[in-house]
Amino acid sequence: MKAGAVVGASVFLNGLSARANASVEINKTKKTDYRVDEELTSFEDATRYNNFYEFGTGKSDPARNAQNFNTDDWRIEISGECNKTGQVGLEELIHGFDVEERIYRLRCVEAWSMVIPWLGVPLADILKKFEPNSRAKYVAFTTLLDENRMPGQKRPVLDWPYVEGLRMDEAMHPLTLMAVGMYGKTMPNQNGAPVRLVVPWKYGFKNIKSIVKIEFTEKQPPTTWNIANPREYGFYSNVNPEVSHPRWSQARERRIGDFFKRKTLMFNGYADEVASLYAGMDLKKNF
Ligand code: MTE
Repeated sequence: MKAGAVVGASVFLNGLSARANASVEINKTKKTDYRVDEELTSFEDATRYNNFYEFGTGKSDPARNAQNFNTDDWRIEISGECNKTGQVGLEELIHGFDVEERIYRLRCVEAWSMVIPWLGVPLADILKKFEPNSRAKYVAFTTLLDENRMPGQKRPVLDWPYVEGLRMDEAMHPLTLMAVGMYGKTMPNQNGAPVRLVVPWKYGFKNIKSIVKIEFTEKQPPTTWNIANPREYGFYSNVNPEVSHPRWSQARERRIGDFFKRKTLMFNGYADEVASLYAGMDLKKNF
């Protein structure tokens, strides 16, 4: 599928929630240049090989266990260092903003990768509406905490809820996307329904799923994998083939569906766009 083929079209989407009686139209009026010219990962691979520990730690667990995840009436609460606190609902995200299709590489810290056509809204467009103040240095994100709807939270495999964070300039960067769908459809449950973060130059675990809260903060917020193992997972987690994970090299990756490994690119191939954000920083220390 080529991105251009669907840009400008109205696509009717079924399955906004697991109970799926709503039909949501995503009107992609905005043309985008953000698409890599690489073969897409198949929809089957992208929706059956997942990391979403709230639904189990195995790669095939989320597809199986998230089937009945109820995302009705989803809202994101926005708070912290801003002039206007409030909420944004999923309907408003889809209808009140220009949803774009963007084809990005996704590089997991485990050294596999995919190419995904996301549907989403630039995070900056959403954040600006809440008028962050001069103390807003970071943006913190939180996943839903509800062990009845997310049964994996009954086990203490991670410190629940899953939390993530970005520096303000990273959050405002034009590549940073709040994704509400993929492959022309609303977000499958196992991929982080109904709304997740996509930051393509960082390792996949920064792409927090099923977000219910966004907070502007003055201090660097805690992040789940850093809490779990600070020696192995830093706050920045920029894709960097020159900085090994303590237990494996990050120089190469396996594109899901390929047999041979390929070289990992600095900032996952987005260096032209984002390297300047880290000018003068020691990326070995700030991993
Ligand atoms: N978000 C939450 N809430 N819980 C998770 O376990 N896993 C992360 C990230 N977001 C995760 C999460 C990891 S490790 C990766 S690689 C990506 O989601 C995987 O996204 P995908 O399953 O859509 O490929």
